[in-house]
Amino acid sequence: KLPEPFTVPLPIPAVLKPTDRHNLTQRAAQVEILPGLKTQIWGYDGTFPGPTIESRRGQQIVVRHRNALAVPVVVHLHGGRTPADSDGYPTDTIAPGRSRDYTYPLDQPATTLWYHDHTMDFTGPQVYRGLAGFHLIRDDVEDGLPLPRGEREIPLMIADRAFGEDGAFLYPSMDGMPGVTSEFMSGVLGDCILVNGAPWPVLEVSATRYRFRILNASNARRYKLKLDPPAPIVQIGSDLGLLAAPVEHDDLTIAQAERFDVVIDFSRYDVGQSVTLTNRLGSGGTKNVMRFVVARKGSDDSRIPDQLAEIEPLSRSQAVVQRQFVFARNGPSHHGTTTWAVNGQAFAPDTILAEPALGSVELWKLRAQNVPHPIHIHLAPFQVQDPGRTATGWKDTVDLSSGDEAEVLLRFDGYRGKYVFHCHNLEHEDMMMMANFRVQ
Ligand code: C2O
Ligand code: CU
Repeated sequence: KLPEPFTVPLPIPAVLKPTDRHNLTQRAAQVEILPGLKTQIWGYDGTFPGPTIESRRGQQIVVRHRNALAVPVVVHLHGGRTPADSDGYPTDTIAPGRSRDYTYPLDQPATTLWYHDHTMDFTGPQVYRGLAGFHLIRDDVEDGLPLPRGEREIPLMIADRAFGEDGAFLYPSMDGMPGVTSEFMSGVLGDCILVNGAPWPVLEVSATRYRFRILNASNARRYKLKLDPPAPIVQIGSDLGLLAAPVEHDDLTIAQAERFDVVIDFSRYDVGQSVTLTNRLGSGGTKNVMRFVVARKGSDDSRIPDQLAEIEPLSRSQAVVQRQFVFARNGPSHHGTTTWAVNGQAFAPDTILAEPALGSVELWKLRAQNVPHPIHIHLAPFQVQDPGRTATGWKDTVDLSSGDEAEVLLRFDGYRGKYVFHCHNLEHEDMMMMANFRVQ
């Protein structure tokens, strides 16, 4: 029932041009993901991925979301520097049939953000059904760089899914109940890899440089991406913007919610050659992600400058407070299983684990136990301190292996109010591995 890999063309999500007001309707739709079959999705404007929103740094926009689904929804702009009342707090829902305006000041450097559902207890199933889209911020710094653009700048949303015989998405939720059964404590994996909503797609490219904004929008799967035949993948940006300087990688490990902005130079290959983007952490069908076919020669005036952006490094001496958070399966029992927790506490809207001061820098030590946990912190951009990790720039998500500890320096800038931080394994998030901080 799954198609031959590399037969479906890569779709490019529709782009909503910069304007100060967008309207999106969240609704169910029947779409063809597997050739010849219909899959019911829940999508922004009925598409998966949702439309890509393009914005300019510092130009505030309002996005009106109408909920035409039968369940409550919440929208979070992941990586956005957003006032608390528009950040998509998990209990701040839009009821079925209602609309809500989200205000985004977007006062932050050019980068690849994404928007997705964030409903308490149901983020996993609701994102799985398709509630995710890109939101790009552009600015003058980035416009001044000679990077590939236009048709040679492409967002890639990678997400795994499982399908039933009839083409329906399979998600092992207990009907109407939050979370998943105990076999899925590590999260929900699919056997089919979608890129921009298409199974193992193929893209024809010219023998030139291309810029790809790679997002791992999977619920629970991480990938180690490598080109076959091998070629360097040059990273130019991280979660929250351009790096100071490009970094060349043989492969990229990308956890859920992370973004890697990269350039691949297809002039290293012959015209006619097929280049597969593989996943070294996969097995069977999940070993492959997509394929590029170098279809023609092309002229190329792009290049990767040695210097990309100014990044102010934070130093430990700026940190006024130090805190430690342990992400482990040691929470209270929830429907008969031990929940995932932060410092032993299951998520509760009234429990505040940290009260950083507006404008301050703090050092957080984040530790993962039992299995890997990609940790995402709303509002506050951070820099990962561990020696041994390559320059990662400004991040909003850090991937931790089991037993790992990362130190991050965070800047609490912009807005006061209550925000969440959590594991971005969406099943862990739904099973309570989430906590609040309040910026004072
Ligand atoms: Cu991408 Cu709190 O989420
Ligand atoms: Cu986790």
